[in-house]
Amino acid sequence: MVNKIHFGKRMSVLRRKAGLSQTDLAEKLGVTSQAVSKWECGNAVPDIDILLELSHLYKVTINEMLEDVDLLCELTGKETGRSGIAYFVPEQERDYNIEWANEIQSGKWIKRNWEYSKADNAYMDGVGKQIASCDGIILEIGAGPGGGYMPYILKANPDATVIISDLSPTVVREWKSFLDKSLDSPNIYYAAFDFCNMPFKDNSIDIISDGGGIGNCEGIKAKALKEAFRVLKPGGKLITSTGFVNKETLAALPEEAQRVLTQKRPDVFEDLYEDTVLAGFSKIDSVISGCWYTDDDESTIADLARSLGVNLKFTSYTRYCTKEQ
Ligand SMILES: C[S@@+](CC[C@H](N)C(=O)[O-])C[C@H]1O[C@@H](n2cnc3c(N)ncnc32)[C@H](O)[C@@H]1O
Repeated sequence: MVNKIHFGKRMSVLRRKAGLSQTDLAEKLGVTSQAVSKWECGNAVPDIDILLELSHLYKVTINEMLEDVDLLCELTGKETGRSGIAYFVPEQERDYNIEWANEIQSGKWIKRNWEYSKADNAYMDGVGKQIASCDGIILEIGAGPGGGYMPYILKANPDATVIISDLSPTVVREWKSFLDKSLDSPNIYYAAFDFCNMPFKDNSIDIISDGGGIGNCEGIKAKALKEAFRVLKPGGKLITSTGFVNKETLAALPEEAQRVLTQKRPDVFEDLYEDTVLAGFSKIDSVISGCWYTDDDESTIADLARSLGVNLKFTSYTRYCTKEQ
């Protein structure tokens, strides 16, 4: 069945891509601009003669205009199914994660974070806008309850093609259930998978955005970076943000804290630059975006720092990594 809302959104995107206003299009087709507006709002579908004219005008087939595409099936070879979510991990939440998943749901974290992202945030808005200017497929990995960059990408361009993904099936379901109600876009897709073992074909994604997913990776971060390189198209970009504790901060800590932290959590002292190079990225630009302290945080590393009586300073950065042609 044709989803009229999605059809309308596609019509609006195609018209704008062709550089036409609703009035321009109405004049070309010999209809009223109210008729064009009705199609784009999902209140009506034009008759077959008009569809044929539109198909010639936009150089797309009538099927492409009418049908919802299973983009994830094209990219992975696996059909998405009726839930609208492609699962590459079990649909049931992992036992050790159930408590966190319940908190996300009962605390309405997704709604809260979405509302939060509406406020002006020069840095996140700037990165979101940059990513959203890409006309191709944007993959948000480790979206988490904050959504990473996705809320800022969709704020900049609600029509952007974005795949929202996470290892946690609950996170993906919560985003879908929320965005289905608040932002009916034909270009948002949902997938649950491990970003250290991505289901996508080689050279298939234009941009991977990551707001702290790899930094909080369940698995090997170097593997996640290699997978990102593999699935990106030549010329594609990984835009990834995380934080680390630099050498100066480490050296200023009491000796016992240095010993325990480097033994138990060597990962927090790595800035992942070498792993990014080893993954294959040759053009890498890092931008320091600020800092945060474990005293203000709830995480396993913050708990460890508190138990050692130290307040660790993390330097945050965003890294723009290009897979050169
Ligand atoms: C604590 S969150 C923080 C970042 C998140 N982008 C946000 O804005 O909330 C980290 C997220 O990364 C996800 N994650 C961790 N390891 C992953 C992996 N190997 N594959 C996919 N997602 C992963 C977690 O499930 C979690 O939702």
